[in-house]
Amino acid sequence: MPLARSLSVTSLSGLEEWDEEFDREDAVLFEIAWEVANKVGGIYTVIQTKARLTCEEWGENYFLVGPYMESSVRTQVELIEPCNATLRRTIDKMNSSGCKVYFGRWLIEGSPYVILLDVGFTAWSLDRWKSELWENCSIGVPWFDREANDAVLFGFLTACNFSTLTSTLFISVSSHFHEWLAGLGLVLCRQRQLPVATIFTTHATLLGRYLCAGNVDFYNKLAEFNVDKEAGDRQIYHRYCLERAAARCAHVFTTVSQITAIEAEHLLKRKPDIVTPNGLNVKKFSAMHEFQNLHAQSKARIQEFVRGHFYGHLDFNLDKTVFLFIAGRYEFSNKGADIFLEALARLNYLLRVNHSEVTIIAFFIMPARTNNFNVETLKGQAVRKQLWDTAQTVKERFGKKLYESLLVGQLPDVSKMLDKEDFTMMKRAIFATQRQCLPPICSHNMLEDSSDPILNCIRRIGLFNSAQDRVKVIFHPEFLSSTSPLLPMDYEEFVRGCHLGVFPSYYEPWGYTPAECTVMGIPSISTNLSGFGCFMEEHIADPSAYGIYILDRRYRGVDESCNQLTSFLFQFCQQSRRQRIIQRNRTERLSDLLDWRYLGRATGFRYPRPASVPPSPAHSLHSSPHHSEAEDEEEPYDEDLEAEKDRVNIRQPFNLPNRNKNHTVGLPEKN
Ligand code: UDP
Ligand code: G6P
Ligand code: GLC
Repeated sequence: MPLARSLSVTSLSGLEEWDEEFDREDAVLFEIAWEVANKVGGIYTVIQTKARLTCEEWGENYFLVGPYMESSVRTQVELIEPCNATLRRTIDKMNSSGCKVYFGRWLIEGSPYVILLDVGFTAWSLDRWKSELWENCSIGVPWFDREANDAVLFGFLTACNFSTLTSTLFISVSSHFHEWLAGLGLVLCRQRQLPVATIFTTHATLLGRYLCAGNVDFYNKLAEFNVDKEAGDRQIYHRYCLERAAARCAHVFTTVSQITAIEAEHLLKRKPDIVTPNGLNVKKFSAMHEFQNLHAQSKARIQEFVRGHFYGHLDFNLDKTVFLFIAGRYEFSNKGADIFLEALARLNYLLRVNHSEVTIIAFFIMPARTNNFNVETLKGQAVRKQLWDTAQTVKERFGKKLYESLLVGQLPDVSKMLDKEDFTMMKRAIFATQRQCLPPICSHNMLEDSSDPILNCIRRIGLFNSAQDRVKVIFHPEFLSSTSPLLPMDYEEFVRGCHLGVFPSYYEPWGYTPAECTVMGIPSISTNLSGFGCFMEEHIADPSAYGIYILDRRYRGVDESCNQLTSFLFQFCQQSRRQRIIQRNRTERLSDLLDWRYLGRATGFRYPRPASVPPSPAHSLHSSPHHSEAEDEEEPYDEDLEAEKDRVNIRQPFNLPNRNKNHTVGLPEKN
């Protein structure tokens, strides 16, 4: 059964054994998604991280199909001639009939082939295709819905590609479509009875996302929704029809978590045949501690940014500052930014009344509509740079005098090492750090400042980065980039430099952000309403001991969840540096569980509680690695000893050889 093969690198629990006779030489696999070489959210991450392994399995017979986006193509795709005669014929034929199809290699690991369809170029066919859609499937797409129009164009172009291809290609064609935006291609393949095996994976349901974003008791009412009415009320009925048609027409229907499987059954009226959790392309460093070093390096860069951002108000100790962050598409309540802010306000109060020395800086990395960076934020970095340059100039002048003094065999007169000019220069630099306003909350000029939900919530709870606040907030409404003039770090570097990722989502079919934290050894908070949180709960006996905090949003009200989140954060702030280091090591040990390579093999496996954590007495914080009050913060931490303690306890779940001596997911030991 060729079509199952396209999922062979995802979890296959639940699928029947496939036909071992099947030879991939006689088959081609297409994976179709709007996020192929086009970053929007997590679907891009699914495809990008899976590519290397899929290319290894399918070789030259694997193709990704996505939209042609000029700006992304310029930076991510090498356009080349089609790699074989059949594809060349197909593409030539489509191009000579008024379409614009590109072929290339996506410059990511595995360098998969990509077929890119220019939807804008065929916009002239939109009305004709919409009429056809109406006549054949009774789905009417309104003119004003740009995204749905793109879905129609993309769908017809994909189907056209398969029609042309299968008319001359006589080997098995499997196609894996992701999400509603790509789903119409699947529906048309089925409606035209093309000889193509089809899989549809939903990464969220449209209606689920919309309902949750409103104020609905979603999970308790799942079985009761009148789906047509709810979709109609939200003006997404046509999109919903496209999505539901794809789910219903697919030979195999899958989704990314159990919780979304239940949602799909109720909202799309089809139970997924199989759940395929999302993995990552996990890279291990040969030196066990490398990821800890990377944390320290990246943290230093974030600290540098903070020095500039808070210039004139640097009245807190950066060495005792903990960096938290939330990141992802800007869905204020679905992603839990609402309860994160509320919990930060409560944490601020707790830290103040407890006279804590710890300062928290919480970053919000969620793209919104902006008019670029604001002047105050850029000025902060300029001031920091000026102070640095001044210090360097004075240092050089000082060094020169010192050198000259030594040359003539004299010890320098320290009181004369700095002259008036040096002092003037330094005073001028210090004067430049005076500031009339508080350090900005937002790094950009927001287009919808007065109605922005994060900014409005901050206004309400009063977290304005004032001196007495122990919790400071920085909202960066743009995805991070290493070419940014403000915070020149890519997302991965930034995550590594932080201490804790906070993702208290209410609606999250999977949630890559906490998974990415885990493989980088950064603890995170997720929820038991997210696919990732549920997956970790299923596979780890004591997730919090591994730095995987799972917030209960399923059985608690908002206020209670908020209190629980506050208490997680407060506990985390009380950890010593040594405890954080131990916890990061434990977190990183879970990465195999999230590796595409082994994901399917973990069925039924549970990581036990780490041996080095004593069974927690009722009042102890079992979420924190054990340490006694008297322990010196900087006492050396014997990683090998710690790892050895855990090694006897953690059993190798994947039947793989140990990657290196210190890697702690060890083979079962004889007692
Ligand atoms: N992300 C990114 N740059 C950023 C912030 C986030 O590339 O500055 C990525 C992150 O790596 C993750 C994705 O955005 O892979 C978000 O995926 P997730 O599954 O968490 O949520 P989605 O947006 O798909 O709902
Ligand atoms: C890593 C580095 C250590 C550093 C520590 C800081 O473990 O290897 O040298 O002291 O990070 O940890 P912290 O949690 O305080 O950022
Ligand atoms: C969707 C979901 C997210 C998931 C991603 C990849 O965008 O919102 O939770 O991680 O798809 O499956």
